[in-house]
Amino acid sequence: MAMNLLPEKREQGKQEFAVQVGQHMNRRDFMKGLLAGAAAVPVSAALYYGYEKFHGEPVRAALIGCGDEGGVLVGEHNPEYLRFVAVCDIRPFNRRRIFEGEGRPPRLGLIRKYGSNARKEIEQFTDYQEMLNKRKDIQAVVIAVPLHLHAKIAIDCMRAGKHVLCEKLMAWNVRQCKEMIRTARETDRVLSIGHQRHYSLLYAYASELIRAGTLGKIKHIRALWHRNQTWPVMEVGKDGKLRPKLENGQPVLRDSWRPDIPKEDLADPQLQDPEFLKRHGYQSLEELVRWRLYLRTGGGLMAELGSHQLDACSIFLGKVHPLAVTAVGGKYFFEDDREVEDHVYCIYEFPGPNYYDRDDQGRIVYEQRNGRKVPKVHDPNDVVMVTYSSICTNAFEPYGECVMGTRGTLLVEREQEALFFPEPDPNARNQSAPTTVQVTQSAVNKPATEASASEPRAEALRRGQSVLPNPVSRGYREEMEHFAYCVKMWEDRNVKPEERPWPRCHGEVAMADAIVALTANVAMRRRNGAVSSRIEFQPEWFDPMILDAVPDPDVKEQGPPFE
Ligand SMILES: NC(=O)c1ccc[n+]([C@@H]2O[C@H](COP(=O)([O-])OP(=O)(O)OC[C@H]3O[C@@H](n4cnc5c(N)ncnc54)[C@H](O)[C@@H]3O)[C@@H](O)[C@H]2O)c1
Repeated sequence: MAMNLLPEKREQGKQEFAVQVGQHMNRRDFMKGLLAGAAAVPVSAALYYGYEKFHGEPVRAALIGCGDEGGVLVGEHNPEYLRFVAVCDIRPFNRRRIFEGEGRPPRLGLIRKYGSNARKEIEQFTDYQEMLNKRKDIQAVVIAVPLHLHAKIAIDCMRAGKHVLCEKLMAWNVRQCKEMIRTARETDRVLSIGHQRHYSLLYAYASELIRAGTLGKIKHIRALWHRNQTWPVMEVGKDGKLRPKLENGQPVLRDSWRPDIPKEDLADPQLQDPEFLKRHGYQSLEELVRWRLYLRTGGGLMAELGSHQLDACSIFLGKVHPLAVTAVGGKYFFEDDREVEDHVYCIYEFPGPNYYDRDDQGRIVYEQRNGRKVPKVHDPNDVVMVTYSSICTNAFEPYGECVMGTRGTLLVEREQEALFFPEPDPNARNQSAPTTVQVTQSAVNKPATEASASEPRAEALRRGQSVLPNPVSRGYREEMEHFAYCVKMWEDRNVKPEERPWPRCHGEVAMADAIVALTANVAMRRRNGAVSSRIEFQPEWFDPMILDAVPDPDVKEQGPPFE
């Protein structure tokens, strides 16, 4: 099944998704009743995710890590909720870029966001410890540094009294995730992790349709993130002709994980000093800039890409933990010094809705087995196979998730579009006429579509389209708004601890995402010859109080020291 659909098929799928949303709007259990009766008003994310418009002063925040993702977070944040008063980065190139931006969304830069005084009003730091010591007024910290430093910096910030929103993957190994959760509890701080799909209305609507049974029984989800990084970077030679750019005699390829080291950073005396680099977590400038390529600093394709999509798959399945994973992968294309795999393929077995015994409230029932508390199995055959692939040699299909049910197929692509294709019922002669879509040629010679539909479907289509988010937010803005709302409520002495709101992707939720990604790495790297290991997920891995129960006990020597 190709995700690369013809335009008319794509349009048909989008319309079907809108029809299904429109048809289900009046169901009492759909979207928590929020949409019941909604006419032409798009549902606000704040209403859907249960936070209010901010009253009073925005949360005073600092950004640690002003690179590509820091730039996106700055571009997407809402200063009415959260206002950056300080930024910290060890690279001069990115300290400049965070102010100047890239001139277009999503990396708008602080000057475009806050006006020309931004440089005066927002203090710049190189060392986050110095920032924590000096700026006691900071309430919250947003962390967007390389993976190996997430735990260390998040824990230091929480111990300094700051609430933390840290980028995904939660941490470099599972033990560090547990340390982060425990620190958040000890210090009574909000800890939110940046898996933004938890705040995407598109994913929320897709999940609601799945919960409402629109897809029938789901036995398979296929997710992928494919890129083609084999094309050479071209440059103009002295003779004015275009030619492939060379580094050490080899062509430089269009690989976003191996970016150029900017001249500004190469000329910086601090970044030439090995002691400075070591103090901030690096063995070289190359490792700092290209951290995704190395095992000591990154977590490979599963941490960077797969974790997002397995997060989405588990959201679709009710945020359940998987049962087992089998994985293959390796460095099959690149011949450079990278340590992480460039191709990966995983098969996860997830529990279906009847796999476990459940009580009247729908909660999983536990039993004692061999002295351990384990979930009680009801139907061992109710399993959902989830496959995930990430490759770097072909980009025919974009990234997305395809959920295949007995009554329909749901596609979510690039976090931007949701499409639905009902399975035709061979027994039903008089099925209600589907929305029909025809292709016409528009003035600019691109295919355009025309749709006609029966009246009830047309009405459902109108209703669905009226509440679908447009433009689609990937969830960053809502994630930061909700985080700020949580901080505000946690700091309000009138709000009892049991009444505090929690981030949707709080520590335990994010640790499960990290376990899902990192266990695939263990399976892939443990493989012997062509045969990979199948690893069963253990319930105690998901318990932050059992520090040593982890899927990756050997993943420590190469990693950062964890104090
Ligand atoms: N949620 C998402 O969709 C998403 C997308 C991309 C990246 N990310 C995550 O964001 C994080 C950053 O990724 P990126 O693409 O921005 O990387 P990047 O290399 O572009 O930026 C990282 C920045 O952190 C700075 N830094 C490193 N060590 C530091 C230290 N000790 N003190 C202060 N600053 C330090 C670097 O100088 C750099 O500017 C990663 O964890 C990544 O997985 C999330």
